[in-house]
Amino acid sequence: MEREKALKLLMKYNKENFHIQHALTVEEVMKWYASELGYDADYWGIIGLLHDLDYEMYPQEHCIKVVEILQSENYDEDVIHAICSHAYNIMVDVKPEHEMEKVLYAVDELTGLIGAAARMRPSGSVSDMELKSLKKKFKDKAFAAGCSRDIITNGAEMLGWDLDKLLSMTLEAMRASENHISEQMSNIY
Ligand SMILES: [Fe+2]
Repeated sequence: MEREKALKLLMKYNKENFHIQHALTVEEVMKWYASELGYDADYWGIIGLLHDLDYEMYPQEHCIKVVEILQSENYDEDVIHAICSHAYNIMVDVKPEHEMEKVLYAVDELTGLIGAAARMRPSGSVSDMELKSLKKKFKDKAFAAGCSRDIITNGAEMLGWDLDKLLSMTLEAMRASENHISEQMSNIY
């Protein structure tokens, strides 16, 4: 029910394939982390699915406009706080506090980097991507330059994890969900 409502809302504010794929990816990665860390996977998934809700239509008001939208849809303050906190120090001053918020902050840019690295592979997939090759792409600042290495590094620090742990876990999360995401994308388009 909650997921259906959230997906409907996502589709209302997001029309571009790229944004929808990113939302579904972050949803799956958040669910994976929730299961791994012993939290509510459905709840973490909704946060992932909706985290960039306002970005396509209101890029200048990212994580600001979303407050209004989510309030009018009766989402509670915890959901709104979690979503806004992923733009901490970029668009808003809402600091990630809960472990879920720190994971979201850390994986948002990282899933973009891993996705871009996957597209460069002959397989076009994360299934055969090794941590070593991801680390190379991470260090190559010219590669997928839009994915902020600083945010990823800060995210790992917030979690108290070393960077390798964040990279390898997120890689595993994306491996586990890749097929499910492509299935969903082909159902949408
Ligand atoms: Fe995002």
